[in-house]
Amino acid sequence: MTRYSRIVILTGAGISAESGVDTFRAKDGIWSKIDYRDVATPQGFARDPDRVHEFYNERRRGLVSVSPNAAHAALARLEREFAGNVLLVTQNIDDLHERAGSSRLIHMHGELVRALCANCGQRHDWPGDMDVGHSCPACHSAGYLRPDVVWFGEMPYKMERISAAIALCDLFVSIGTSGNVYPAAGFVEEARIAGAHTVELNLEPSEGRSHFAEAQYGRATEIVPAFVEKLLG
Ligand code: APR
Repeated sequence: MTRYSRIVILTGAGISAESGVDTFRAKDGIWSKIDYRDVATPQGFARDPDRVHEFYNERRRGLVSVSPNAAHAALARLEREFAGNVLLVTQNIDDLHERAGSSRLIHMHGELVRALCANCGQRHDWPGDMDVGHSCPACHSAGYLRPDVVWFGEMPYKMERISAAIALCDLFVSIGTSGNVYPAAGFVEEARIAGAHTVELNLEPSEGRSHFAEAQYGRATEIVPAFVEKLLG
């Protein structure tokens, strides 16, 4: 019988790596090829919106050729079969957790397949390409649509709900993240203060490794299903 009743899980790019989605800080990662200031900041978007739209259009097009992997599936199984509460918080903007079946899910950095209108604040599903010529389906203004993605310097989404869940959790599991970007990198400390058991599942020790009570290193498609099996066992 598992001794936990409220689990918060944080995922990062590493959980999607084996699906063929590039991570950010590997030696050949996204930020080794492009300066994040040009494509993942409000200033970059103001300077050259076409370049930013093309960056996200390429990543959005890429979604159709990748699929959820065994780690995504294991987290969806945990949500289905665990007797207590599971909240999945992802830094990822891909849709692989949803496609694997997870629904109690927060995209704290937004979603590739959504659009945000900077004029009226409405959000829209947006599976296709986006460019400066598109107008908002709600307010019909042109030139204000952007990917509904949280850029550096902007406030991640649903932070109050996330912090409230962490304050109540008895197990915090971080999967596939390098622990470089706050506020996500600070969640483990919040969980420790809340008295939760903290676990890091990653390919290698992250920046935050010293904050975790337990760690398992390996590929997500191997260590995450095994971890879930043990939790449900
Ligand atoms: N299995 C498990 N972990 C893996 C795997 C794998 N197959 N492949 C890579 N990893 C690990 C790496 O060791 C690394 O620690 O996943 C982590 C990926 O780290 P980053 O590339 O920094 O991605 P992430 O931590 O999600 O970045 C956080 O930074 O650029 C912003 O908004 C962006 O959400 C992103 C945030």
